[in-house]
Amino acid sequence: MAAPLLIRGGTCVNEDRAFRADVFCENGTIAAVGENLSVPEGTETIDATGKYVLPGGIDTHTHMQLPFMGTQAADDFYAGTRAALAGGTTMILDFVLPNKGESLLSAYEKWRGWADPKVCCDYSFHVGVTWWSDEVGKEMEVLCRDKGVNSFKLFMAYKDVYMVNDKEMYHAFCKIKELKALAQVHAENGDVIAEKSKEMNDLGITGPEGHEMCRPEEVEGEATNRAIVLANQVNCPLYVVHVMSRCAADVICAARRRGCVVFGEPIAASLGVDGSHYWHKCWRHAAGYVMGPPLRPDTTTPGYLMDLLANGDLQLTGTDNCTFNGNQKALGKDDFRKIPNGVNGVEDRMSVVWEKGVHSGKMDACRFVSVTSTTAAKIFNMYPQKGVIRVGSDADLVVWDGEATRVISSKTHHHAVDFNIFEGLECHGVPLVTITRGKIAYNKGKLDVVRGWGRFIPRSVDAPFVYSRVRQRDTIPRYVKVDREPYTGPVIQLD
Ligand code: URP
Ligand code: ZN
Ligand code: ZN
Repeated sequence: MAAPLLIRGGTCVNEDRAFRADVFCENGTIAAVGENLSVPEGTETIDATGKYVLPGGIDTHTHMQLPFMGTQAADDFYAGTRAALAGGTTMILDFVLPNKGESLLSAYEKWRGWADPKVCCDYSFHVGVTWWSDEVGKEMEVLCRDKGVNSFKLFMAYKDVYMVNDKEMYHAFCKIKELKALAQVHAENGDVIAEKSKEMNDLGITGPEGHEMCRPEEVEGEATNRAIVLANQVNCPLYVVHVMSRCAADVICAARRRGCVVFGEPIAASLGVDGSHYWHKCWRHAAGYVMGPPLRPDTTTPGYLMDLLANGDLQLTGTDNCTFNGNQKALGKDDFRKIPNGVNGVEDRMSVVWEKGVHSGKMDACRFVSVTSTTAAKIFNMYPQKGVIRVGSDADLVVWDGEATRVISSKTHHHAVDFNIFEGLECHGVPLVTITRGKIAYNKGKLDVVRGWGRFIPRSVDAPFVYSRVRQRDTIPRYVKVDREPYTGPVIQLD
């Protein structure tokens, strides 16, 4: 248990307002918020005068030590959560991804076994539905009832690995709705990608640029629309992970305007960099950016996604942190299809969003808190335990300097890899102190983390932020039978 801690004199920022207050943390939670608090003698004090105090970042999308494409993500639950804390993120939501045919429950237990001894900050799990059967549906019930899971990811790509077809998706959406959980979707047309990547190979395009060429924007846009249409048939709330293109973002905006319950998650990568890197002459550099869906060669994409995030058309940010070293990426040196998909982000998301969102003048500090923490807590049903500075909430906090700058580099980052997609980016917005459940884990450049300090945060179903509207939509009769006299006229004879 962490010792009592006082953060004095800062400007606290919640999604609805910013206010001057001290924050007193005791037994891992926020015990008092107010001006000139008096605290027990001996309480450790952090002076936050002139700085912001923010709810710790919540990264909605990571893949620590994911076994993937013949190798394993380099950031494990220790390195990854350490990097998170260095960047001002105090909670991650990672993914249990069962193989096809594998029990979801045993995959969940396996992932818990990997994560629990290593995590340095709190975490929770989404679970992938990578195949479908009645048994899968029953296991989803158990995961929701007994294991603290309320979100399930479906893949429309990675054919023969994780991809499910429309019928399987439809069944899964029915079950998710019945459980009052949340459906998440990786939206890309996996069949088209499989065909077009063969085409690239036949054309002799084997380098990283082929990765983008065989899955252009509209392939993401089509799948995004299809997922929304399928989910909407059963009024199942849908969360589109890693929104990478203007096309997909526009589809989400249009659906929201029609009243669909759909949320869009751009990531640090899609907000901070573009896909022109795939055409870089250095193979290792180009391969460092390979992820799915890919970054887009249209260089206006990051700014466009940030505009939508700032004005509320997109709702929150994750990272899809799934890192591989250059030598791992080199598995695909002769064939882009074999380059392990994934990039970094968990350490730099907060600074990238501040730089491109707040420092650029597109959003204020309250909106920043909303898109990096509070909305995640609400959508995934952890609010107000997480995502807010309030008495009783977990003491997951960041002392943030909005004026200071830092230059991102693989030489100084805390990831377990030799490459950083934001290399050289100067960001205003620097975490000075990161606090996880009342414990100082990062202070002015120095990490002091504890393996296994993080707890698994169980999340119950029926998140009010999501389901109050779903329920309201359910009150409108969708299908109304027409009462009519039976037809008694002539009918042709079929042979
Ligand atoms: O390239 C990516 N995104 N790797 C991780 C798996 C996924 O699709 O989220
Ligand atoms: Zn994905
Ligand atoms: Zn992912």
